[in-house]
Amino acid sequence: MTGDTQPLTGRPHYDAPSITSPTALAPGERQILERLCQGSKSVSLEPLRGGYSGSRLFLLDRKDREGHVLAKGVAKIDSPEKITRERRGHLLAKDILGPNVPEVIAFAYEEDLAGVLLSLAGIRRPPLRTLQSVMTSLDGSPETLAELEEIWDEVLGVLASLYFPGREERLNLYSHNTFQEKYSQRTIDRFSTLLSWPASRESLLFQEWGLTLKHPRLFYEGVLPPALKRPPWYVACGVAHGDLNGANILLDKVKNVWLIDFFHTHENHHLLQDLTKLENDLKFLMTPLPSDEDLKALVRMEGLVQEQNSLTEPLPEVVALPSRILKTYNSIRRLREFASQVTVDPGIGNYRIPLLRYAAHTMGFEECTLLQKKAAAVSVALLCEKLSRG
Ligand SMILES: Nc1ncnc2c1ncn2[C@@H]1O[C@H](COP(=O)(O)OP(=O)(O)OP(=O)(O)O)[C@@H](O)[C@H]1O
Ligand SMILES: [Mg+2]
Repeated sequence: MTGDTQPLTGRPHYDAPSITSPTALAPGERQILERLCQGSKSVSLEPLRGGYSGSRLFLLDRKDREGHVLAKGVAKIDSPEKITRERRGHLLAKDILGPNVPEVIAFAYEEDLAGVLLSLAGIRRPPLRTLQSVMTSLDGSPETLAELEEIWDEVLGVLASLYFPGREERLNLYSHNTFQEKYSQRTIDRFSTLLSWPASRESLLFQEWGLTLKHPRLFYEGVLPPALKRPPWYVACGVAHGDLNGANILLDKVKNVWLIDFFHTHENHHLLQDLTKLENDLKFLMTPLPSDEDLKALVRMEGLVQEQNSLTEPLPEVVALPSRILKTYNSIRRLREFASQVTVDPGIGNYRIPLLRYAAHTMGFEECTLLQKKAAAVSVALLCEKLSRG
């Protein structure tokens, strides 16, 4: 070894930034954050809410060595496998959507933990809000209904770039949507508990809603097993986000749209997947149901929506619904009109299958209120009945 050669220590060739955090960092997180913010002098962290995925998220304020304030960033930390998958999905989406997807500023890998530093969405016109918080707060008054149309123009405009051009591919949408016979009993039990309806009874009149429903057990036991064995059929496929909940769409004050969270993004999705997920979450997560009266109104709306027999058939234009429910109804109208352009098959069966998957999951969501879960249960029953008829 010559005199001026330094032995390799494995330590970074820079001074690690000083990191301040209001909450304790888990083992390894500090190291990842130091590497993500390499070149900064100081970094202060604000933990971000969310993360049903289990990822840790922080909003970062960074300063460089001269004391300049750097652009805010968001650090996401998880296992190396999950960060790699997220980065892969991000690359795909970024390539198609450009400015509607935040930039990756840096990434860092250690043995058990990895992280990605993203630019903050919505840098242009704060405040930045999730679609979920915007939707939950709109009261459905005429002004907010006009605003709602503008929001959908923007959001669907971005999604259109992602979905077109799609391709036709053969899928069995039941197995593609992870329906499996071994899960059926759990769904049947959840449904029975939510609506206090023993599975032994085939049909039940719900007087308060003016509705007679069939127990979904009939579908899960009689229709689903042969449906899972059906040969695959042609459906519209391509790039989709894959987990398009209302917290993965961000909007700023002037309704610029950003998509985030690309762990599930790839090019082999059924193209109606995102739209059915959004419809589900609009109904059962973004529509507050403070009272039984609200539940009744949502059940009535769901009855109307599920009557649609083709995506090209318009939902009725004007419906007497309470304003907060009308907002959801109008949103679904926009989503379904858009879905009819995305799909090669205007028949509604291919839309109903993922819709059933999401409604059935929603019955077990922690984040939903009991009334929202009951509404999802009604939807499950209606969809099972429709899908049983083919
Ligand atoms: N680049 C970003 N700019 C602004 N806010 C962001 C950004 N990335 C994440 N967030 C905020 O953090 C939240 C959680 O981020 P993200 O969806 O990536 O995490 P997640 O753990 O995958 O969440 P989930 O599994 O619940 O969807 C977002 O809903 C958003 O409010
Ligand atoms: Mg998310």
